[in-house]
Amino acid sequence: MSNTENWGSRVGLVLAMAGNAVGLGNFLRFPVQAVQNGGGAFIIPYLVCFLLMGIPLLWVEWAMGRFGGRHGHHSTPFIMHQMDPRRALWKYIGVFGIFTNLAVAAYYCYLESWTLSYIWHSIAGTFIGQSADQVAGFFSTYVDVGVSTTGIPYEAVVFWILCLALNTWILAKGLSGGVEKVAKIGMPLLILFGVILAIRGVTLTAGENGAINDGTVGLNFLWTPDYSAMWSGKVWLAAAGQIFFTLSVGMGTIQCYASYVRKKDDIALNAMSAGWMNEFVEVVLGAAVIIPISIGYLGIDKVVELTKTGGLGLGFKTLPYLFTQWGPVLAAVAGVCWFGLLFFAGVTSSLAMGTPIMGFLKDEFGWKHKNAAWFFGGVVFLLGLPCVFWFSEGVFDEFDYWAGTVSLVVFALFEIILFAWIFGMDKGWNEINAGADIKVPVIFRYIIQYITPLFLIGVFIGSLPAIWEKMNEDVPWQVWVGRVILLSVFFITSWFVYVAYQKRRKQLDTVKP
Ligand code: PHE
Repeated sequence: MSNTENWGSRVGLVLAMAGNAVGLGNFLRFPVQAVQNGGGAFIIPYLVCFLLMGIPLLWVEWAMGRFGGRHGHHSTPFIMHQMDPRRALWKYIGVFGIFTNLAVAAYYCYLESWTLSYIWHSIAGTFIGQSADQVAGFFSTYVDVGVSTTGIPYEAVVFWILCLALNTWILAKGLSGGVEKVAKIGMPLLILFGVILAIRGVTLTAGENGAINDGTVGLNFLWTPDYSAMWSGKVWLAAAGQIFFTLSVGMGTIQCYASYVRKKDDIALNAMSAGWMNEFVEVVLGAAVIIPISIGYLGIDKVVELTKTGGLGLGFKTLPYLFTQWGPVLAAVAGVCWFGLLFFAGVTSSLAMGTPIMGFLKDEFGWKHKNAAWFFGGVVFLLGLPCVFWFSEGVFDEFDYWAGTVSLVVFALFEIILFAWIFGMDKGWNEINAGADIKVPVIFRYIIQYITPLFLIGVFIGSLPAIWEKMNEDVPWQVWVGRVILLSVFFITSWFVYVAYQKRRKQLDTVKP
């Protein structure tokens, strides 16, 4: 399979892009961020960030991708190089678009694999009759290396390898034959499961099966604006971080997917369809499951308390217990809906993380598609080992912090400067509008040129104190090993880019229209 693939259909493309964006972030990260940042206080900064950073970056990344694809590039190092071939810098900035995907996939696929195991346990009825502590304890044991005498959490490792193999196998089947097919099946099912659970969440009534609040209590908590906390820098940073993570911007996956769009095809409308679908799933479905159900049974204070010790808790420790309150049959159905939805959300995102590196190896080193897929699977396995075995030491969270949060902002800042100021806004604007099926409001031209970069600079500067603090925290040595691994991945990828560049220097440096 050469690297001149295309998407099979427009619906497939939009669903794949929506699948890329809709992920575990929508159902696990969003509710936790919202709860921790004051519920209603979080929503306004969140929506402002969506309008002023999310939407502009979606257009920019789609445009960069289609532009790159036209010149035979499918990953950010050489897409960015093509946009400004005179400077050596950009291809190394573009390394972020490969590095973050490898590092995020390392922990993301592990998390994704838990959902498979939990689907199995929901069907097997493992949680029926267990107390809340027992269900929570199940999770702690599941990921704990200390529980097994050999130090290997067998079940977790088996499901993890299964999950990696599944991802690799789908990736090996190609874009339209693998990724697009999974999105076409997975996304509608995800929405169906989400709607079923959301209806359950919203219609929950106090007194029913031990619930103490109506489902609407949780919804009100989230949707009643609270202007007092709105001026807190911390809330804004959290909102910006969530917008990045959930839309998958600043990662290099959107550029990669968009590079397989045909030359004359629309991107302006497609970008909006996928982006708004993500927002629907996040703020409507994502918000209507975990929050109303957990607040319904536990009350606001307890839920706020629980999210403090990490957000994953609610989804894996609390919800399965609450489901058992509905009787064995409904508990199994709810468990399959919830963890099935999480699985589809996860897999369509982890597949997206595999494509940039595959595109890079195929473009630059002439690799075969299948080999590139297995290479990705292998690297993610190796990088995942510290996340799996040093989970309790915090390596998992460390990867999420540097690769899944900080890197996205840094990369997005560079890319918007390249796009609006060096590639140039005239060219950039034409690139976005070429073949467009909608008229992009002109105001966005100015937002992309001025507001988004300033906003990003603000977010970056605003997060510096937190980064500084993080570096000065006392952490176990395993976390330092994790940091060194991350840096090594970055440098090794840069070296690959360097070698690729030396090989094709002459060809790459000619400025093509
Ligand atoms: N957007 C995905 C989520 O919400 C995560 C993701 C990040 C996917 C980067 C692809 C690339 O979970």
